[in-house]
Amino acid sequence: MLSWLWQFVKPYRLRLSIALLALIITAALTLSMGQGIRLMVDQGFSAQSREGLACALSLFGVIIFFTSIGAYFRFYMVSWIGERVVADIRIKLYEHLVGLTPSFFEDNLAGEIQSRVTTDTTLLQTVIGSSFSFALRNSLTFIGGLSLMFISNIKLTLIVLIVVPVIIFPLIYFGRKVKKLSRDSQDKIATVGAWAGESLQHIKVVQAFTREDTVNQQFAQAAEGAFEVALKRIQQRAILIALVMLLVMGSVAGMLYVGGSDVLAGKLSAGELSAFVFYAIMVAGSLAAVTEVYGEVQRAAGAAERIRELLSTQPEISTPKDSLPLKERLNEPSSQALVSFKDVSYTYPSRPKHKAIEGLTLDIKEGEHIALVGPSGAGKSTLFDLLLRFRDPQQGQIQINGLPLDQANLQELRSQYALVPQQPVLFSSSVLDNLRYGCPGATDEQVKAAAKSAHIDEFINQLPQGYDSFLGEQGVKLSGGQKQRLAIARAILRDPKILLLDEATSALDAQSEHHVQQALNELMKGRTTIIIAHRLATVAHVDRIVVFDNGQLVDIGNHQALLKSSPLYSRLAQLQFNVAV
Ligand SMILES: Nc1ncnc2c1ncn2[C@@H]1O[C@H](COP(=O)(O)OP(=O)(O)OP(=O)(O)O)[C@@H](O)[C@H]1O
Ligand SMILES: [Mg+2]
Repeated sequence: MLSWLWQFVKPYRLRLSIALLALIITAALTLSMGQGIRLMVDQGFSAQSREGLACALSLFGVIIFFTSIGAYFRFYMVSWIGERVVADIRIKLYEHLVGLTPSFFEDNLAGEIQSRVTTDTTLLQTVIGSSFSFALRNSLTFIGGLSLMFISNIKLTLIVLIVVPVIIFPLIYFGRKVKKLSRDSQDKIATVGAWAGESLQHIKVVQAFTREDTVNQQFAQAAEGAFEVALKRIQQRAILIALVMLLVMGSVAGMLYVGGSDVLAGKLSAGELSAFVFYAIMVAGSLAAVTEVYGEVQRAAGAAERIRELLSTQPEISTPKDSLPLKERLNEPSSQALVSFKDVSYTYPSRPKHKAIEGLTLDIKEGEHIALVGPSGAGKSTLFDLLLRFRDPQQGQIQINGLPLDQANLQELRSQYALVPQQPVLFSSSVLDNLRYGCPGATDEQVKAAAKSAHIDEFINQLPQGYDSFLGEQGVKLSGGQKQRLAIARAILRDPKILLLDEATSALDAQSEHHVQQALNELMKGRTTIIIAHRLATVAHVDRIVVFDNGQLVDIGNHQALLKSSPLYSRLAQLQFNVAV
């Protein structure tokens, strides 16, 4: 774990050196207090001299003064590094997550991953920002104190040292256990967090189905589970701490008996024994402190491991090393179809036996308007995922202007599209920010023009803060239709090469649908558009309608032709227009 962490600490070597220097100096000064005690006892008390006492105490005062200054630097620098490094790790982790393929988040709960970014990194921060320096300081005190003990009295030192091997073994044994339990406990906490997040987000559904009690129970169960694992960990640590305490203090008591006898026999001065006891207590204290921190370091190691795991998850889909330029290619006139599917099949890994798209071959010309229709689950949205390269087909190839998608720069590819998804997605910020999402550089005028085209401008102006109004998490403060019109305005603003509309007008009333349809017609003019629609009235005038069923293209043609030639299409039309065809 340390070598992994080092890459994050390395940039701050200078500060680390200052911190280490302060650490060493304060440790040395703390130890030198032992000499102050010896002087105080021998020259002050034993010699019954006031001057001796005053002299020893002033030496003491100087030591304390410099120790405090050292402590300031040590604490400040070490905490600084801890905070900084954790901020760096968080940033890097988030950056990494944002680049992962969407399917990763289908298999892993978003709330759980969130907990990695917050809880696990916080744990690391405790270790880097305090425990680590605490451990180092105590290790230094331990080594220095032990050396001084040896120098001043070998016999007494050996008595104290008898216990060391006895302590080391349980330390390692329990340490391992704690690490494992800590990982479990962090996992449990992450699950609890994910749970709470999901149910709170969908609170209306929870309450509408009166599931409060069940949700409470399930949450309580998860929380209790986390508590139980934590309890096991605490037990291990408690045993460890008590054991170390008993052994260390026992050996100090033994040493006091032997040393006290020596003083009585005149073989040792009272000051020397006092200094020795001081060192022994320091050494024992630091050993106890190290063992206590050791458990914490083990916990952090568990956290670090999980963060590392996440960081090493490679995105399934990324820009290839030798990617070909797409933009120039799109600007050149070409005889090829703009988008072409060549025998494309896709199967969701979680449903290996079911082909969501099967053997699809389709050419879409520049400027063409294509509608995808078909029953629910036919694979229409999946097709958009393939176009956007959220997934790669297992078989066949998709090309844009003859360039296979998987050879293009990913960002360049995606910037050719504007997507209006099946469920409009809004972020918890202002109307303006949400509209600008696909085109951050747009001026206020451009944003307003787009809003006007999508027939949402009037509504926005009625909001208390107009375009600066806050939309709430996921746009909860808007109606379904308003959200959809905002999503359309966002797409209009992006001015894309290819427009992808997934049921873009599903949540609109008849009147606003009419308005939006006009806006869309404006937007679609001369622009390649693929539109998924259940309501055939909205797509009757597109160039070609592609009828999908069960992942397969079953029919293709315009409205009139399909009514005659396609049984599926005419059935759909019949159901919707409520007329016999
Ligand atoms: N993430 C996923 N993992 C596994 N299977 C999926 C996933 N998403 C969709 N599917 C399955 O793939 C098939 C096609 O789904 P898709 O969302 O493309 O349908 P659709 O035509 O858009 O339907 P709708 O009109 O209801 O939106 C469905 O059978 C669906 O259950
Ligand atoms: Mg769909």
